[in-house]
Amino acid sequence: MSTIRIAIDGPSGAGKSTLAKAAAGALGYLYVDTGAIYRTIGLHILKEGVDPENEEAVSAQLPRLQIDLRYDGGQQRMFLNGEDVSEEIRLPEVSHYTSAVSALPLVRKFLLEMQRELARKNNVIMDGRDIGTVVLPDAEVKIFLTASSQARAQRRMLELERRKTPQPYKDVLREIEERDFRDTHRDAAPLRQAEDAVLLDTTELNFQESKAALLQIIRERTDP
Ligand code: DC
Repeated sequence: MSTIRIAIDGPSGAGKSTLAKAAAGALGYLYVDTGAIYRTIGLHILKEGVDPENEEAVSAQLPRLQIDLRYDGGQQRMFLNGEDVSEEIRLPEVSHYTSAVSALPLVRKFLLEMQRELARKNNVIMDGRDIGTVVLPDAEVKIFLTASSQARAQRRMLELERRKTPQPYKDVLREIEERDFRDTHRDAAPLRQAEDAVLLDTTELNFQESKAALLQIIRERTDP
């Protein structure tokens, strides 16, 4: 039996993870946060003191990496060489390293099959940057979820406060704009809206409104 695949792409801080997780819960699908998988590589590269832009040095690390996704009550947890790194991968310096390593074609190739395999075995809502364009080009539903960079910085700031790692607004905004630039300008699988993706802009929407809009898009396209 073939699975149903929902691809959600968009820039950092658009609320992809929170919304995709909520929608997956409502639909009974597996939620796959691919950013967390890239972050696990970013964390390893940071810990090893490797230059994240040096493709040769980064690729020499890949055979030493064992990355596992485990689900704990619907929550995706990331394991790096057997260690649970689910919290550590959210640190701001890991974001920076991850944006650099995720621009490397060899890193993207290394993770491609892992992501496709998850979607072969489960009905998934998968979020990332290139899910609708590269990882699951035949996904049943593709959504490009975005919001203004100012709205995204506000939300990220609240999230960092909740995680007890607060940062000033201007730093968060600058980090978001730098990552947007890097994610959209890289040669390998840049962030862009797939031609057949539905655009959902949540700048003016609260969480409940965004979730309802997302579920409506999915249901319209998957209900017979
Ligand atoms: O979604 P996130 O902020 O956790 O993603 C972290 C970084 O990983 C981000 O800079 C872009 C990169 N990424 C990617 O290149 N491709 C994906 N499918 C997911 C994330």
